[in-house]
Amino acid sequence: MAQSSNTAVSPDSGGVKSVMTDNAAEPTRVEAAPLPIVDWDRYADEYDNMAAVNNAYQDLVVFVTGTALAANLPDAARVMEIGAGTGNFCLSLAEQRPDLAIHAVDLNPTMLAHLMAKAHHRAMAVTAQQFDLTTPWPWQAHWDMILAVHAVMHLPDPHRALEQAFSALRPGGCLLIADIARALDVDDWQQAVAADIVAAHMAETGSISAAQAAAEAFFAENAHVLAVNRAFAAHYATRPMSRLVLADLCQTLVEIGFVIEAASDGHYRDYDNVILARRMAP
Ligand SMILES: C[S@@+](CC[C@H](N)C(=O)[O-])C[C@H]1O[C@@H](n2cnc3c(N)ncnc32)[C@H](O)[C@@H]1O
Repeated sequence: MAQSSNTAVSPDSGGVKSVMTDNAAEPTRVEAAPLPIVDWDRYADEYDNMAAVNNAYQDLVVFVTGTALAANLPDAARVMEIGAGTGNFCLSLAEQRPDLAIHAVDLNPTMLAHLMAKAHHRAMAVTAQQFDLTTPWPWQAHWDMILAVHAVMHLPDPHRALEQAFSALRPGGCLLIADIARALDVDDWQQAVAADIVAAHMAETGSISAAQAAAEAFFAENAHVLAVNRAFAAHYATRPMSRLVLADLCQTLVEIGFVIEAASDGHYRDYDNVILARRMAP
């Protein structure tokens, strides 16, 4: 039996405000080995550097935010982002809909500290909580929307997480999920980001050699994100990814009880599905 420590993080300090613990049972449907040990703290420190220069990521933020805005959330709706990381998705939504009560959860406190620092800087009233999504979720019929971007893929039992998301939504609420549909090819991914950096520098300086040097320097300074992504890619190559292929993921969501309202693939340089699925009111 595992004991999880679920911690609320204060907006101003990024530190611990309150702690609640539970004696939750392990999830019952573990279908794959847990992730290799990842230094999420260091990953968090480099994550936004990478996000800022990755055009495909920025496009995904715009698309997911647009999908969330189209979901007809009521005024002051409760939105939870799971595996929120440094908060690029929930903060983009908060910017467009300041009335929403947005709550971010993540296992890693450094990710949440970055998120809350940005929220504080932009005067956004977002809350955050350190929480391990592999433990039973404490929310029942509570959220109007659950947002999950590149989050479910990191959980050892995605099916269980989707079931818990269903229970955590109030009837009428919806899950907005963007996740990886095909195995990450890190070389391809790095080349795309490098091309974005080169294009941006070329536009500024006009010098191809300086632009290429800038891209090389960038990857040298942010090497941990690359290393972690390589560890992910190697790890995911050993486990079935089929449930995150669009059709399989939609079928899984329907079996759990969701109604699919929008589903598309081809996002994030063809890596991602984006699905909006609703827990219908009885
Ligand atoms: C690739 S990042 C995605 C962050 C953000 N959603 C985005 O797309 O920018 C994955 C996030 O999942 C979090 N994570 C991994 N395992 C988790 C778990 N068991 N419970 C909660 N969060 C977890 C990590 O800390 C990390 O912030």
